[in-house]
Amino acid sequence: MTMQPWQAHVLTAFPQMFPGALGFSNVGKALNENIWSLDTHDLRQYATTRYASIDDTPFGGGAGMVICPQIIAGIMDKVLSHSVRATLPRLFLSPRGKPFSVERAKALATGDGAVLLCGRYEGVDQRALEYYNFEEISIGDYVISSGELASSVLLDATVRLLPRVLGALASLTEESFEHNLLEYPHYTRPAVWRGLAAPEVLLSGHHRRIAQWRLQQSCALTAKVRPDLFAKYQASHSKLGEDN
Ligand SMILES: C[S@@+](CC[C@H](N)C(=O)[O-])C[C@H]1O[C@@H](n2cnc3c(N)ncnc32)[C@H](O)[C@@H]1O
Repeated sequence: MTMQPWQAHVLTAFPQMFPGALGFSNVGKALNENIWSLDTHDLRQYATTRYASIDDTPFGGGAGMVICPQIIAGIMDKVLSHSVRATLPRLFLSPRGKPFSVERAKALATGDGAVLLCGRYEGVDQRALEYYNFEEISIGDYVISSGELASSVLLDATVRLLPRVLGALASLTEESFEHNLLEYPHYTRPAVWRGLAAPEVLLSGHHRRIAQWRLQQSCALTAKVRPDLFAKYQASHSKLGEDN
C-alpha cells in the first residue's frame, strides 16, 4: 500500500517563492521523498485584466490594495473540485488570525494536509474568506509583507512533525514548548573553549544528574524569558500533585 503524501496547497501571487527554504534540510528531503507534496496555485492565473492585476482599491478608501474575491474563487473552485482537497483545513495567513502554535502544528500534521492562502498588500476581500470558510491564522504579533513567508513558517513547523521526517523522535519530545518549558542550553566539543568550560555535569556520563540539570535549566530559562509559559508548567505540575 502506498502512503499518500501530506498535501500542501498554497494559493499565492508569487509561486516562485516556493519551495524556497522548504527545499532544504529534513523538510526538503521529505519533499523529495514524497512524504509531503507542495502544489502552488498562482493567483495571477485568474487575473482578468491586461496587466494581470489581482487586486483593486479598497471600498471606503484608504491605503493599499485588496485581492479581489473572483481571483480567490478562480483557484478555490479548481482546488476544491478534487474530493480529498475539499476536506482539507483552509487557512488564511493573517496578522489578525489566531496565533499559530506547536499544538496547532501537531493537529495539522495528523491530518491529510492544508490549503494555505497567502495575502499581499492590504489583504483579501472578506467575502472570499467567508465564502470559502478560511480560518485566519497568525505567525506572531508583527506584520510582514507577505503570506508566503508566513506559509513557509507554518509548513516547516508542521511538516517536521510528520512521521519519518525527523530521524530521532527524542529530539521532538525534548523540544521547546513540550511540557510548557523552553529547551535547556546545549554544549559540544571542545570541553573548554576560550577558557570557558562546558558544565561539568554534562561530561559526567551520569544520566539522572544530567536530566535533573537540564530540567533545572529549562525551568530557570522559562521562568525568566517566558513567565506566561512557566505559569502553565507550574499549574500542570500542581494539578498532577493534586491528582496523585
Ligand atoms: C502587509 S500584510 C497585511 C496586513 C494587514 N493590512 C493588517 O494590518 O492586518 C500582507 C500579508 O502578509 C501576511 N502576513 C503579515 N503578517 C502576518 C502574520 N503576523 N501572520 C501571518 N501572516 C501575515 C498576510 O497574508 C497578509 O495578508
